Amino acid sequence: MEVIIKKDQSTASVYAARLLADVVKVKPHAVLGLATGSTPLGLYRELVRMHREEGLDFSRVTTFNLDEYVGVAPTHPVSYHRFMNENLFDHINVPSSQVHVPDGLAEDLPGHCRAYEEAIRNAGGIDIQVLGIGSDGHIAFNEPSSSLGSRTRTKMLTEETRKDNARFFDRLEDVPHHAITMGVGTILESARCLMLAFGGNKAGALAAAVEGPVTSMVPASALQLHPRVQVIADEPAAARLALKAYYQQALARREETGR
Ligand code: F6R
Repeated sequence: MEVIIKKDQSTASVYAARLLADVVKVKPHAVLGLATGSTPLGLYRELVRMHREEGLDFSRVTTFNLDEYVGVAPTHPVSYHRFMNENLFDHINVPSSQVHVPDGLAEDLPGHCRAYEEAIRNAGGIDIQVLGIGSDGHIAFNEPSSSLGSRTRTKMLTEETRKDNARFFDRLEDVPHHAITMGVGTILESARCLMLAFGGNKAGALAAAVEGPVTSMVPASALQLHPRVQVIADEPAAARLALKAYYQQALARREETGR
């Protein structure tokens, strides 16, 4: 894992956006795996800026989002589909036919999940997957105890996740109990992963994911098994990393010498 620590969220988001933009520039028909939540907001803002001001072209890109709440329509204010439209898709030139977000209203949920996996395979697989991390160590909505080989499926959310996400709803009772989510196994098949972690409330989960044992109790720790993961954290999220000084030296050296 390459751990990149930046002084604050905004610097880290711009750094992450450059990495993603480089993928799109090298491979204009890249397949991007995208996340929702507070974490990637700065990254999406910067991608929108790059599109507007620098002509970053998304016309041939295909996207797959990690997850969506079950029972929530794509147009609903809390839906992840709407979040993506408002924060990214409506402001760049990706054709809507190339955008994929799980359908929270699918009648046949297992069939929909299988079709989602197939669509990822048919697109040639995900070139780079953006991830946040939950305060309980989840990635996508793979909650602790999720199989590290899991595929896209419905998953019941923990109370910790429901409380964390209650800020997007009027009341805690309104937060759905289930989500459709790519599995840990699905995520591990991406060619590259970019996990972002911001804020002190992620420090424990990030340390467990990067430096703890690989365990289904911290689904993000499965990324240790992936050959190409970059973790981009701000200082508060990195605060509990035992090897923080080492990661910082390694980054400084890479930037200086290219190695
Ligand atoms: C959202 C997702 C989740 C979030 C995580 C962190 O698509 O996959 O795993 O990344 O819950 O959420 P925030 O960024 O709101 O702290």
